[in-house]
Amino acid sequence: MTGGDILGFQRNLTQTPVSDAEREAQLVNPGFGKVFTEHMVTVRYADSKGWYDARVEPFGPIPMSPATAVLHYAQEIFEGMKAYRTAAGITLFRPEANARRFRDSARRMAMPEIPEELFLQAIRELVEVDEKWIPGQAESSLYLRPYMIASEVFLGVRPSAEYLFGVIACPVGAYFKGGPKPIKLWISEEYTRAAPGGTGAAKCGGNYATSLVAQAEATREGCDQVVFLDTTERKYVDELGGMNIFFVYDDGTLVTPPLGTILPGITRDSIMTLAREAGHQVVERPYSVDEWRADAANGRLREVFACGTAAVVTPVGTLRSASGEFTVADGQPGEVTLKLRSQLLDIQQGRATDTHGWVHKA
Ligand code: COI
Repeated sequence: MTGGDILGFQRNLTQTPVSDAEREAQLVNPGFGKVFTEHMVTVRYADSKGWYDARVEPFGPIPMSPATAVLHYAQEIFEGMKAYRTAAGITLFRPEANARRFRDSARRMAMPEIPEELFLQAIRELVEVDEKWIPGQAESSLYLRPYMIASEVFLGVRPSAEYLFGVIACPVGAYFKGGPKPIKLWISEEYTRAAPGGTGAAKCGGNYATSLVAQAEATREGCDQVVFLDTTERKYVDELGGMNIFFVYDDGTLVTPPLGTILPGITRDSIMTLAREAGHQVVERPYSVDEWRADAANGRLREVFACGTAAVVTPVGTLRSASGEFTVADGQPGEVTLKLRSQLLDIQQGRATDTHGWVHKA
């Protein structure tokens, strides 16, 4: 298909719908990524025919040959985005930014670029059929997980000639249980995440697979998330296992690592915009752990927070490494962190006017 065409989605809805009572029970405390809605979207691609066979079907297994390319060489990408139940109806937050990032990830992984309109149409189809699964409580939303896998049955090492694009969805509450409570971070000194020229800026499963050993180490050390450092000097902060990071100084300046080897977070970008509008200077530059430690000790560094679609904005309290630990300020959520967090949530959940054109009707 060409960029302008929209495929018709064939709908084959579930014959055994979940009862209202059962769904309500599942929506009470869904956690993250455990409860799934009743449907899913799939669209196929072949080099020989382009995008085809767009479907909305009951959520369920995707049968595949054990020789399917993705199972061997990890040619896979995904996205994370949310739909909200607001007073103005069901909305999506910056969905075209996810579509663009998905396209960029596809290019890096030698996969076909799905047209933005088809990506957005797939999201809207699923949100429409599973609308009842969108929770209404504050801080809850429907997390949407678009993904694409190499589906050719072939063991040769080259880009697959066939792909499966899909979208699944899960109702979610807060990513970290207990609300905006400061998290503790572990510095990975042994493992790195992404080198220049690598896949760090692509949202591909492989980046997360390689982070897991370091994340497991962080958990063993009593921490919530791992901090990855640059691959060259092992000195500068890159990002966390699944989110970006910001440092807030006593003069109101926010510092965040520059793009390149890190994921270009849509929440990161939104926070930079909101902070600048609130009069903060926002600087994207390499930021070292030595600076983090020294400025925590001399009191100039006032707050640290992590951000991402799943985590929204989460305060960081303590940083731990093999050589010890230190805490920034009193370790409690800072004023700037909490303000940016509630400003973003208010826009996403329709409690504040969206002056940026970020909120779209689903
Ligand atoms: C997101 O914030 O959407 C992410 O992708 C992080 C993680 C859940 C993989």
